[in-house]
Amino acid sequence: MDILLILMVVFCLLISLTAFVSIFYRVPYVPTSRRVIDKIFSTIKLKKGNKFVDLGCGDGRMLQEAEKRAKADGTGYEIAPLVYLMALCKKIVSGSKYKIHYKNFFKDKLDYADVIFCYLMPFQLKKLSNKIQKECKKGTVIVSNTFKIEGMRPKKIIPKNIPEKTPSLYIYQI
Ligand SMILES: C[S@@+](CC[C@H](N)C(=O)[O-])C[C@H]1O[C@@H](n2cnc3c(N)ncnc32)[C@H](O)[C@@H]1O
Repeated sequence: MDILLILMVVFCLLISLTAFVSIFYRVPYVPTSRRVIDKIFSTIKLKKGNKFVDLGCGDGRMLQEAEKRAKADGTGYEIAPLVYLMALCKKIVSGSKYKIHYKNFFKDKLDYADVIFCYLMPFQLKKLSNKIQKECKKGTVIVSNTFKIEGMRPKKIIPKNIPEKTPSLYIYQI
């Protein structure tokens, strides 16, 4: 009974902390849909061993897919505690090799990345634009879901909702 109570308290704390982090960073957890995931991976042609980075990896679905499809070497960053735990559980259960850091990605260098994926808000992408251009090596591919990265010219814009022709995947290359 005591253990159940402790678990409930811990769970409530994690939910509160996750809500606080989402409000504080102003980026909610919204997962990328299966259809969009397929579109992304059929477009970027990831190679075996490529360093694939998801900035704000949510439950780790993009990392899992990159590993499954191309044996990519994935790294994800997540700051919402409950979402991070979800990603960690998923990784352990699936026996995947990708790494997930409970960390603000702005605090790490991105010079090792071959492909960067992000599904972030425009105000974050604006800040990220400088970081990418300063740190990333030549040839690095960046995919932004839904929002354009201000200050960078996309190499390709592809529609997410094919029938509606909504341009919503932005591909960049350094
Ligand atoms: C819109 S969700 C996308 C999740 C996942 N990439 C996907 O496409 O399914 C954005 C995620 O980024 C995380 N996030 C936002 N800012 C972050 C930061 N500075 N460092 C690490 N994670 C961050 C949020 O907690 C949220 O889970």
